[in-house]
This record gives sequence, C-alpha cells and structure tokens, in this order.
Amino acid sequence: MPQLARLFFYEALASLALMCGIIAYKGKRTNAAEIVLKGLKKLEYRGYDSWGVAVRSNHTKQISIYKRTGKIGELNLKNIKLPVGNLAMAHSRWATHGGVTQKNAHPHASCGNRIVVIHNGIIENFLALKKELQKKGHKFISETDTEVAAHLIEEYLKGLRVEGRGLRVQKLKEAVQKALKRMEGRSAFLVMSTDCDAIVAARRGSPLIIGKGQDGEYFIASDIPAFLQYTNRVMYLDDNEMVVLDGGHEFYNVSDGKSVKKRIVEIHWKPEQAEKGRFPHFMIKEIMEQKETIHRAINQEEKLIMRVADSINKAFGTYLVGCGTAGKVCMAASYLFSKIAKKHINVEFGSEFPNFHHFIKNRSLLIAVSQSGETADTLEAMEVARKKGAKLMTIVNVEGSSMDRMADLAIHIKAGPEKAVASTKATTSQLAILTLLAYACAGKLNEGRKVLVEAASQINDMLNPRYEKYISMLARKIKHVESMYVIGRGMNFPMALESAIKLQEVSYIHAEGFAGGELKHGPIALISQGTPCIVLVANDETRSDVISNAIEIKARGGFIIGVAPQREEVFDYWIRVPDVGNASPIVNIIPVQLLAYQLAVLRKNNPDMPRNLAKSVTVK
Ligand code: M6R
Repeated sequence: MPQLARLFFYEALASLALMCGIIAYKGKRTNAAEIVLKGLKKLEYRGYDSWGVAVRSNHTKQISIYKRTGKIGELNLKNIKLPVGNLAMAHSRWATHGGVTQKNAHPHASCGNRIVVIHNGIIENFLALKKELQKKGHKFISETDTEVAAHLIEEYLKGLRVEGRGLRVQKLKEAVQKALKRMEGRSAFLVMSTDCDAIVAARRGSPLIIGKGQDGEYFIASDIPAFLQYTNRVMYLDDNEMVVLDGGHEFYNVSDGKSVKKRIVEIHWKPEQAEKGRFPHFMIKEIMEQKETIHRAINQEEKLIMRVADSINKAFGTYLVGCGTAGKVCMAASYLFSKIAKKHINVEFGSEFPNFHHFIKNRSLLIAVSQSGETADTLEAMEVARKKGAKLMTIVNVEGSSMDRMADLAIHIKAGPEKAVASTKATTSQLAILTLLAYACAGKLNEGRKVLVEAASQINDMLNPRYEKYISMLARKIKHVESMYVIGRGMNFPMALESAIKLQEVSYIHAEGFAGGELKHGPIALISQGTPCIVLVANDETRSDVISNAIEIKARGGFIIGVAPQREEVFDYWIRVPDVGNASPIVNIIPVQLLAYQLAVLRKNNPDMPRNLAKSVTVK
C-alpha cells in the first residue's frame, strides 16, 4: 500500500479501535467468566459488533474461548458452556482489521491455545510480523492484527517448559515484554497463558485501569464502571508499563523491565451512578443530572480555586486547551475571562496547540479541559507545553486519568461517570468551574458562587417534565429537516458551535453554528424557506444584535427557534431559559442537548452510541 494510503487506512482504523471494551478478573471467585461478561455489558455504551471471553479452567488448566458477533444480549451463562475458573478476560470489538466475524472477534489464541490475547488499538507493523511468524510455522486463523501478538508471545516461549509456578510467571512476563518491544502503534494488551494462572497487561497509548478488590482479587478494564460494583480502589497503568497479576500485583517498565511503584487511588463514583436507572438512555439521564451536577462542580475548596486563579493572574500567557465540546467550553471561558476578569486567555484545540509552541515559555500556563482526561490530542498539547517548562493544570472529570496525573494541579468537576458519547453534564460542569475561576481572578469569588448557585437552582426548576414535553413537540416538528443552524454572540457564540456538535453527533442532521455577526459575510446564503435556526440569546449587551440577526434570517424564510430568557417577536418557537447573567452559556446549552436527544430518538438513532464516534478519543 502506498505510504499515504496506508497512513489514512491506519488513522481510520485507529479511530474505530478505541471503542473496544476490555475487562479481566483474577481472584478467588470461581465464576470469573460470569464476572467479566457482566462487566463487559457495562461497557456496551462504547459500541461494539462482536464480543468474546476466555476462561482458564481450574480443572484442566486449559483456556476455553467463546466468541460471537452481535450484542451480548441477556446473558444466559448456562447456554455458554464455560469452565469453572478464577481467571478470565472478555472483550467487545469494533471491527478494524478484518470484518465482523466470529473468527475475528477477540480473544485470539496462538497455535495450540497456549497464549490468549485481547487487545485495544492497532499493531501497525502486524503484516511484517505476521509474515515472519508464518515463516516460522505459525498458523493464523483470523484476519486481525491482534492474533500476531498471541503468536509472537508464544514464539518467545517456544521450547520453554519450565518447572515451578513462579518461574513460569516470570517467563511469561519476559515473553510479553519482548513481544511488546517488537509491536508498533498505540495499544492495550491483556495476556493469559495455559502455563500459569497469572494475567499480564500492558499499555501503550490506550487506557487500562487495575481494580484491587478483597483478598488478592484484581480486575483490569478499559473503563472503571466495568468493575465499580466490586471495588473503587484502582491503580493506573501508564504508557510503556506492564503489570503482572498473580495473586498480588507487580508493575514494570516495558523498556528496562524494572519494577514500578503504584499508588492505590480511591474513586468517588458510586456503582449506581454508572447505570441508566429509570432512563431509557444514558444521554437523557446525564442531561437530567444537571439538576445537581452544577452544584457539585462549584462545591470546591476555596484554596484550590484561588491557587488556580492566582496562577492564571501571574502566568505569562494562559492557554485553555480542549477538543470537541471541551474546546468549545474553553472558547466560552475566554469570553467570560475577558468580561469578568478583564483578562485575555488564549484558546486552542488540542490538535492545533503544538503549532503555537513557539510562544510557550516556562512562565506560561496550560489548562487542559476534558471529561475523560484521556484525549490524545489534549495530552499531546500538555506534553508539548511541559517540554517548554510551562505549568500544567487540568479541569477534568475522570479522577486518576492521564491528564489528572500529568497536571501540576487539577480541579475535578465531580460530574460522576458520563457514559453517553455526547457530552452534556461534563460540559456544563466545566463551564461552571471556568466561570467561577473568572470571578476568582477578578477577586469576586463569592459573587461568582452566587451567580452559579442561582443558575443551578434555576436549572433544577427548568428541567421538569413539561419542559421536556415542549422540546419533544418541537423535535417532532423539525425531525425531517436536512440542515439546521445555530447562532449566538459573545459567550453564546461558542455555545452555538457546541449546539451544532450536539445536533450533529446524535441526530445526524447537518448542523452548523455561527457568530451572529458573521451571517451576512456568507452563511446567510444557506437560509431558505423553513430552515430551522436556533438563536441563543443572553440578556446582555449582545441581545439586540443577535435578535437583529434572527430578523435577517427570518426575512429569508428561516424558522426561528429562540432560546432566551424572554419572548421576542421574531421567534416562531420560544424555549424559555432562566435569566442568569454570566451563567447564560450553561443554561442555554441545556435545551439544545434535550432537543438533540429527542431528535435522535425520533430519527431512531441510538443517542448513547452515535455512529463513527467513540466516547474517549485516545488516538491522534
Ligand atoms: O474526554 P474529552 O472531554 O477530552 O473529550 C473531548 C471530545 O472528544 C468530546 O468533547 C467530544 O467532542 C464529545 N463527543 C462531544 O459531545
């Protein structure tokens, strides 16, 4: 394949490979298969097209593999004849290398099933390795890159039948380490073997978290909710590290094999927070949770907020960096800092930040904004800034995530697990924290708290069943449209961009956001009879200008949906939001989240798992 084509090919594959789910169990319970399959079901929100499980039998010491295409569905373990065992791992796959077939589903085994592997990510040099292994007699049965890992590890164990459990674990660890050094690309691997009852996991670019339960019991997963019902005590595998779980745990650096010390971190999420509960989808559950998440977000230690504010005030240039929705939050924050604290804040998308490294000095400050704390582009921005000696901070939801650990200082938004791909509650919590910081920078922390507490209680009133019904009625009116536009000015301009993201990702309607003032410079040509246009209005100095823009759109046939504290004559449809001053971006985005959700449901899309998207984009 020509180099460029190959690059695109891998990029496309990599973006899909993220969605895979991983969970493993090693402990005293003998129903390991059931534990990992139930855990895998908790990762279903990531999207997958096939799944599989591997269990090491306590009786025969052999590894049984069961895999299927499609969804796991209601688990009837009696129909899946799996052995009794206390070591198992499971995987949900989103097809990359090779089609959606049972053969291509994970786990993958080496010849004779000695080594069994599950994997997230891409082994970029798998073709070369495959050829090399085939020459040595290895027989491949799938089209996947993952199978290469199983054969390669086996190759390093060839002829080695050592006595003694401890030594067998050691040899397995060494073989995995050698294989890891040969494989290129960003991945996470889990390896089991018939040689011993240990499990080895390794990370290079794709997250893996180790849960430590009672009495030498361990879990490994790509996402904490997979094992949260058993333990909230976790350890994070960092890049280029591996762990051997063998009744205890031992972490190593892959390059030199040296031991690495790990801290156990307690996660403050409750298992029920990661469930849908009475809601049909995570997205609507998470939208509704905004009744309380803003309160939780702003309930921060004053000392922490003031330390961050002080750093912003003293920095020679502050950069707010995020991707997608988090990037739009950063943009909105720059308006708030300008207005409230009279401060200029630079804003960059994670992927664009490296282009500005020329300005970064050791007195610069980068604040990474993220829900997952694992977004590769934002992490890269942090790495670039770190190299220049800049201070790193983060505003993040997932505690213990890569960004949380990398930053010198972190503010946790405390939104609880966000499982729907479309970010909702994390967005408004990030906005709340940044609004608070802007007030803190201006020496008006208490005033900021007051504004946000008021906004939070107004949101509680706003999100009532009548409101939902009203928005669902509007969704029915516009569900067949091809395109929609959203406009805003000032701090609501970034919210217009964010509205478009919400509409695009779950309704699949073509949606675009614009600054109201930019309309007449081009986009107004897109308006024709009946084109829906959402107008985000704040009761501030931008109000009359954005209403004038709405009038211009209406004059060209546009159907005006106003999201505003007061009714305006130009609105064909008015979605009322509370008048909350500088918290306007927070309240204005919520009805659009609801509208996007309703449109998704009416158009028979799964709002939790939009096509082509992953919750956490851990590759560049
Ligand atoms: O986890 P992060 O906040 O770093 O994720 C950044 C973006 O990938 C994310 O906001 C994405 O745009 C969402 N799907 C939007 O709803």
